[in-house]
Amino acid sequence: MSKESTDRLMSYTPVALQMYDVLAEDIETVRELFAGELLSDLPVVNERIEQVGKFRGKMLRPCLVLLCGRACGEVSHSHHVVAAAVEMIHMAALVHDDVLDESQVRRRGATLNELYGNETAILAGDFLLSHAFGLCSQLRSQRLCSVIASTTNMVCEGEIMQVAHKGDRQLTEEEYLEIISRKTASLCGTCCRLGVECSAGSGELARAMDDYGCALGMAFQITDDLLDLVGSEPVVGKTLGRDFLQGKLTLPLIRARERLNGGSRRELLELLRRARAEDLDRIRDIVSDCGGLDSVYQTAQEYIERAVEKLTVLPAGTEREALKKMAGFVVERHT
Ligand code: IPE
Ligand code: IPE
Ligand code: MG
Ligand code: MG
Repeated sequence: MSKESTDRLMSYTPVALQMYDVLAEDIETVRELFAGELLSDLPVVNERIEQVGKFRGKMLRPCLVLLCGRACGEVSHSHHVVAAAVEMIHMAALVHDDVLDESQVRRRGATLNELYGNETAILAGDFLLSHAFGLCSQLRSQRLCSVIASTTNMVCEGEIMQVAHKGDRQLTEEEYLEIISRKTASLCGTCCRLGVECSAGSGELARAMDDYGCALGMAFQITDDLLDLVGSEPVVGKTLGRDFLQGKLTLPLIRARERLNGGSRRELLELLRRARAEDLDRIRDIVSDCGGLDSVYQTAQEYIERAVEKLTVLPAGTEREALKKMAGFVVERHT
């Protein structure tokens, strides 16, 4: 196999496995739990839901649960259940998000809305969410369930706030950060916190790792928003350009708006108002020429630095190193 093919293959496998193959067995257990939970006695349901499990994502969130668990003790059944549940919540959010964004491709495959229409996709997202809480009910700790429930509420609130600001060309950076903190960072923080809590780590460790996950999640979404604008669709594996076309202002566009004045600012605002596919190249040039891309990349790096600082509470070792690498991967990734 050529180096190029190997690199490409590696970029499709779960993030942490590339740097920490000790997780391979745990990830497999999580995948089995995930698939078993979703089985229905109705073939028509299995057929439509199968599509969701067929294309493997990066498994970032289960990896966070498992790595943080390992960093603080032994990995147990509750880590596997939490990891499967958070991945399911994440997937439910993606299935619904693809309806909102009218996306056709996800994880290099057709989205459910593309294959079966919005009705099936919305119901499948509900199915995933209720099964995620089915998994949570296996957990003996009510606290774990309630943390997962309140985080899921945060994710939904972030998505609702984002929709409420659709077409808002004056969205502030503060509002943008609030949206992504809820829709993405909160779940990453919770994955890390629960990894620690399932290993009976101290409150101090749980708080520090929650902060690590939140900062990593902020950088992850900022990078995703950069990729949506300048990424390559075959590499990223999902429909891109949707943020601009759907009137969702993300950090690159906000930064460009703040950097420009006079005629260039008016041009940008007019392109944002029209939100046409044929203007995407021009938008990319505008954001790049005013230094918007670099400044956004810099911000993502700053979140990663903040995340890495939090790791000092962990004992030195393989897990701490893997979590550090994971942080680096989040901003360097192309997929
Ligand atoms: C995509 O998440 C949605 C965002 C929060 C940016 P991922 O990039 O983790 O999606 P998968 O699970 O790897 O497909
Ligand atoms: C969605 O953000 C994040 C969720 C919490 C669902 P995006 O809209 O940027 O995710 P992608 O780009 O479609 O994966
Ligand atoms: Mg989307
Ligand atoms: Mg995106």
